[in-house]
Amino acid sequence: MSVSSSGSAAYSGSLEGSNAQRGLWSSRLAFILAATGSAVGLGNIWKFPYVTGENGGGAFVLVYLLCIAIIGIPIMMAEVMIGRRGGHSPVNSIKAIAQRDGLNPAWKLVGAVGILAGFLILSFYSVIGGWAISYVGTTASGQLSGQTADAVGAIFSGLLSNPGTLLLWHTVFMALVMLVVAKGVRSGLERAVSILMPALFVLLLIVVGYAMTTGHFGQAAAFLFQPDFSKLTTSGVLVALGHAFFTLSLGMAVMMAYGSYLPKKISIAKTSITVSVIDTGVALLAGLAIFPIVFANGLEPGAGPGLIFQTLPLAFGQMPLGSLFGTLFFVLLIFAAWTSGISLLEPIVEWLEEQKGMNRTVSTLGAGAVCWALGIASILSLNLWADFAPLGFIPMLEGKTIFDLLDFFTANILLPLGGLLVALMAGWVMSKPAMEKELALSPGAFSLWFVTVRFITPIAVGVVFIYNLM
Ligand code: TRP
Repeated sequence: MSVSSSGSAAYSGSLEGSNAQRGLWSSRLAFILAATGSAVGLGNIWKFPYVTGENGGGAFVLVYLLCIAIIGIPIMMAEVMIGRRGGHSPVNSIKAIAQRDGLNPAWKLVGAVGILAGFLILSFYSVIGGWAISYVGTTASGQLSGQTADAVGAIFSGLLSNPGTLLLWHTVFMALVMLVVAKGVRSGLERAVSILMPALFVLLLIVVGYAMTTGHFGQAAAFLFQPDFSKLTTSGVLVALGHAFFTLSLGMAVMMAYGSYLPKKISIAKTSITVSVIDTGVALLAGLAIFPIVFANGLEPGAGPGLIFQTLPLAFGQMPLGSLFGTLFFVLLIFAAWTSGISLLEPIVEWLEEQKGMNRTVSTLGAGAVCWALGIASILSLNLWADFAPLGFIPMLEGKTIFDLLDFFTANILLPLGGLLVALMAGWVMSKPAMEKELALSPGAFSLWFVTVRFITPIAVGVVFIYNLM
């Protein structure tokens, strides 16, 4: 994707023709690859298993799947549609639509929520990306082979206890993200996604294959897919909802930004569904890879954010060619995290370019530096500040470190809020004929989507919020 031009707001308020000046995705596949690159990341492989473990398994997974189907896919369609109709960076797309459909310009708040969420998420996302980088060395060195669960756990705690090492890898990860965003050239990346995503998929399948030999695969499958509603809490429902947004990269206008490059003739519904199905498939595979190892080694499913780093290394230490597969796996995980990280920074940089007239390199350096600095707070939460819970006086935030708070506030509050605004905008204020034209669905399918964004999504998000936050 050849991203926006010189920086000085190319935005003219006219919608027709604006896309053409910005360069479009070459094909439906290119968009799917870029959107999948954004969606598939640490959320699928790192976060999904650990939040599933913390929230008791099956019932949580079911709610998460429902959130993907009923809330995630319709919102993704709405975001892509707003982006394509607007034809600019999210904030200006909304402005352009507001002008055209006579809406209140305050809707550009959607873009503002997105930019804030992007900063906050990338700050801790990069720290976890750093863990993955560090594990390339850990696996490649062969030090995992034949290790016990305790030894593998100790390697992980060793990493967390060392702020210097964490800072180093966090810095490397941020630099990788900034490099691509500053260049503004994605074409190479899309080609890479088309090779590396399937490779990641295959490696996950290999680990699932290994997991089947542990003798605990059935137990893991039951844990993931047999709902036990007694284990589901209201906060679990909020986490499932938040994670649906997080894993599909929704609620912060990423899909809006990407949608603005989507050629008009391509079906928004089909592409959104494809991306969501791939994303969900990767998450479920990760679950099937990890939980058999958890049960076979008597580990705790609710171990928290370290879960994959305490389980997968065990598998790589035991399976044939484990060092090779392990190294490859973490390299691919870095790549998946990288493409997601890029999509977190890209909207901010586009906004700085269009809105503030800054050039791409300067905006990338500036925004990247802020995320990097913020990341240091997350790093310290893992060691020196591990007992510091700044908002611990609020019952539901008890014991949460800065890192936990950033994760909670972004995934569970900001993203659903951003999604809610998108749903309200599409469901209540945008021109309906224009949306019909943009989505080009059969009348029945359009009505289904429309009713969903108009009623179901706002009510669902509202109810979950009220139950949790009131
Ligand atoms: N979806 C990515 C993941 O699962 C994370 C991500 C990238 C994201 N861009 C986003 C989350 C935008 C929310 C919004 O790893």
